[in-house]
Amino acid sequence: MILASILNSDLANLSKVADTVAASGADALHFDVMDGRFVDNISFGLPVLSSLRPYTKQPIDVHLMISEPLRFAERFIKAGADMLSFHIESDSDPQEMLRCIHGCGIPAGIVVSPDTDVDAVLPCLPLMQKDDFILIMTVYPGLGGQKFMPEMLHKIRRLSDIIRRGSLPLHIEVDGGINAETGMLCRQAGADYLVAGSYVLCSDDPAEAVRSLNKPLR
Ligand code: DX5
Ligand code: ZN
Repeated sequence: MILASILNSDLANLSKVADTVAASGADALHFDVMDGRFVDNISFGLPVLSSLRPYTKQPIDVHLMISEPLRFAERFIKAGADMLSFHIESDSDPQEMLRCIHGCGIPAGIVVSPDTDVDAVLPCLPLMQKDDFILIMTVYPGLGGQKFMPEMLHKIRRLSDIIRRGSLPLHIEVDGGINAETGMLCRQAGADYLVAGSYVLCSDDPAEAVRSLNKPLR
């Protein structure tokens, strides 16, 4: 599945961006929320999500880069999130977060920043449900257009092994610096959800960019 991050898109024309994403063949939109505290940037939040919601039929994957995701999770789901992820490094209790998101009936994702060991999510795995996902950050969260960190690939391999051995119904998402080449490396390592921002939405040919991300696995 390809999720187009709108962070580096034409934010003054979001309804047009939603059309571009749909026409590109991407499967979903990825919506990055930043609070200026968890990361050193502020992006957009609830009113923007509810404004965008009527302009697309595609699923919206909301990635919360905020310090207190538990305070806002339900509100983001009411505003239109179809999948919601939060950072394991945030101040909210991951078990409570999972309960809250599942209680609202949508898939939950746990995000792992570059400096965090992927094993930090292991205690949460038994609480995760079908269609939930672990999001491995392949750049430091906070900005679009950064360079992919290949040293994150081992986390994908390790997680993929654990998921396979336990027959867990979980997905692995990657986010940051994804293009045709780095996307292939992530898929080879076991990722099945690719978030791509600038590669798709700053491209002259978003449909070709999405096609290149969907190339058969080598
Ligand atoms: C980074 C965000 C990403 C970002 C990806 O903090 O979580 O979703 O928009 O953008 P690219 O694909 O340009 O690295
Ligand atoms: Zn993101």
